[in-house]
Amino acid sequence: MRITLMGPPGVGKGTQADRLKGHLEVPHVSTGDLLRDAVKQGTPMGRKARAFVESGELVPDELMGELIAERLARPDAAEGFILDGFPRTVEQVAILERVLDRLGVKLDRAVALTAIEAEIVRRLTGRRICPTDGTVYHLESHPPKSPGTCDQCGSALVQRADDNEEVIRKRLEVYSRQTLPVMEAYRQRGTLLEVDASGAPDEVFEKLKTGIEG
Ligand code: AP5
Repeated sequence: MRITLMGPPGVGKGTQADRLKGHLEVPHVSTGDLLRDAVKQGTPMGRKARAFVESGELVPDELMGELIAERLARPDAAEGFILDGFPRTVEQVAILERVLDRLGVKLDRAVALTAIEAEIVRRLTGRRICPTDGTVYHLESHPPKSPGTCDQCGSALVQRADDNEEVIRKRLEVYSRQTLPVMEAYRQRGTLLEVDASGAPDEVFEKLKTGIEG
């Protein structure tokens, strides 16, 4: 199964992709995670992407094309994948089609997760991350057992650099301007599945599974 999970910042793409990868037994490919890793390691890609990621702007399409072509060509993605955060522009839709054509495969589903803006802002401002193992928490919906500390490894939790109010506003504006047209592109291709992402993560996961498998 080859799926892309789309939707506004903080709607729960990563949370659902994590559940889905266990269910479908295919890798979770998050372009946001790939970029943050590259920034952390100071690779050439990371140095070019850093200012875009931290300000909430999109990384240029040509860089994203290189990143995604390299990742999807790896052996673990041969039987399928869950893309999270790609494509995000109409040009990236065309890039993905070219990459998949070269690999001789097709996208099965483009899933759009939806939620109202107040809920999105609540999810983003309450998110905390473990910098060591990447576990994602939420102060209200998924708090750590001991405040500020990762349940798995005991590291002090942090907020993502782009989870402050000013950058959240920017990311939402970029989403409306550049990514909403992507949904329309998939609607026209007949591959779009819209899933209401309000409700608890397990409820959303049930809706997602039913939509994908139904
Ligand atoms: P990226 O990392 O993709 O960020 P995003 O799209 O803004 O999405 P998030 O990771 O913030 O949120 P999410 O939807 O995964 O939510 P999560 O599951 O964590 O991209 C970051 C940046 O990288 C971009 O701004 C851009 O610069 C660059 N980039 C990435 N891809 C690119 C591309 N293709 N082209 C160009 N640039 C690109 O959930 C959020 C919180 O809510 C968590 O705390 C979670 O516990 C909680 N939560 C989740 N679900 C629920 C629920 N159902 N109920 C209650 N709480 C919930």
